[in-house]
Amino acid sequence: MLKISRVSKSYTPGVKAVDALDLEVKPGEIFGFLGPNGAGKTTTIKMVVGILNPDSGSIKINGHDIEKDPIEAKRQIGYVPDEAQMWDKLTGVEYLSFMCDVYGVPVNERDKRVRPLLEAFEILDAARDPIGSYSRGMRQKMAITGSLVHRPPLWILDEPMVGLDPRSSFLLKELMRSHTDQGGAVFFSTHVMEVAERLCDRVGIIHKGRLIAVNTVQEMKDLFAKEKDASLEEIFLEITEAKLPEEQLRSLAK
Ligand SMILES: Nc1ncnc2c1ncn2[C@@H]1O[C@H](COP(=O)(O)OP(=O)(O)O)[C@@H](O)[C@H]1O
Ligand SMILES: [Mg+2]
Repeated sequence: MLKISRVSKSYTPGVKAVDALDLEVKPGEIFGFLGPNGAGKTTTIKMVVGILNPDSGSIKINGHDIEKDPIEAKRQIGYVPDEAQMWDKLTGVEYLSFMCDVYGVPVNERDKRVRPLLEAFEILDAARDPIGSYSRGMRQKMAITGSLVHRPPLWILDEPMVGLDPRSSFLLKELMRSHTDQGGAVFFSTHVMEVAERLCDRVGIIHKGRLIAVNTVQEMKDLFAKEKDASLEEIFLEITEAKLPEEQLRSLAK
């Protein structure tokens, strides 16, 4: 579904935001992309969706190279960015019909696809108002709805839980699972470990631009956990060396 091969990207010469990253996401799989702030998650996602070009390496979505065959590659993708930049003057309805136009969704299909999501997210009425008047959560829910209008096989979400209330966050997780149950794949980034632990079939941990571990949550625990009942969060801290030694913690607490 998604194949990232030896992809690197620098914003400033000599500093790699993403460093020789290899990663594969298979159909039917929810893949969680984990890492601390600044690890390179958003940069990777922007390269996958074709907003940024890699300095080297290649990215294929269902066999279509995002640089050589961008239109066909982008058809395969639904993308929810970390900060939903939308057209504030458009109403939700106008935004969604714009998305349907861009992706060539047949007119008689549109309402059928969009309405259940708007109802579930409780933004059906708000869809008549300009997006500029929306709260962050409402924007996020509108962006999620817009990302699915063309029924993309690969659903990519950058920190999607941020700004969502618990109910919408629960609904989003259900949507992710139903997407993969129907043969699609989900690739999403998060720093919320409990979400990853319960939701993901596999997780990859990125740190300073390098993918340092990829595995199922259970295998990750078996491999890295010092204690038997360690959470994914503890393993993550351990691996990314963010866990400070006891004495250091005690001196910080003074
Ligand atoms: N537009 C940019 N210009 C320069 N540096 C950037 C830019 N965007 C991100 N970076 C740097 O690239 C690294 C990776 O950032 P990012 O991919 O946003 O990480 P994450 O999404 O994991 O928090 C960080 O060191 C960040 O400061
Ligand atoms: Mg980010």
